[in-house]
Amino acid sequence: MTKTIYILNGPNLNLLGKRQPEIYGADTLEDVEANCRRLLPGGYDLRLLQSNWEGQIVDWIHEAREEACGIVINPAALTHTSVAVLDALNTFEGPVIEVHISQVHKREAFRHHSYVSMRADGVIAGLGIEGYEAGVRRVISLTA
Ligand code: DQA
Repeated sequence: MTKTIYILNGPNLNLLGKRQPEIYGADTLEDVEANCRRLLPGGYDLRLLQSNWEGQIVDWIHEAREEACGIVINPAALTHTSVAVLDALNTFEGPVIEVHISQVHKREAFRHHSYVSMRADGVIAGLGIEGYEAGVRRVISLTA
C-alpha cells in the first residue's frame, strides 16, 4: 500500500515566493512540492496542502490520522500561538517534522517559542525550502 506524507503549510505561505523574499526566498510552494516529489522512493506519495485557517490545518491533521504515514508541517505563525494545532498533532501517531524556512531563532523573540516543537520528532529552521526536503527524507527513513 502506498505511504502518503502530508506536507502542511499554515497562514501566508500561499504567498511564498512573493512574500518578503529577502526572508523566505523566491521559490514557491509549487517548487517545494516538485523538489520533494523528486525524493520519493517507490511506494511513497505526498500531499502538499496550505491554508490560512487554523481549523483547516486541524482538520487536515485529523485526516492524516487515517491517510498519512508522517507529517512535515510548517505551521507558520500558528507555530507560536496554536494549542489547537499542538493538540491535533498529539493525536497523530506517526512522525512529525516541523519546518521553518527562516532561522526563527535569529528573529524576533516571539518566534523563538513553538507549541508544535512540544510534539515534533524533529525541528528544522533556516535551511530555506530545502528544509522541507530534509523533513521528507526523515519521514521516509522513519517509516521505510
Ligand atoms: C515561518 C516562521 C514563522 O515565524 C512565520 O510566522 C512564518 C514562516 C518560516 O517558515 O520561517 O510565517 O514558519
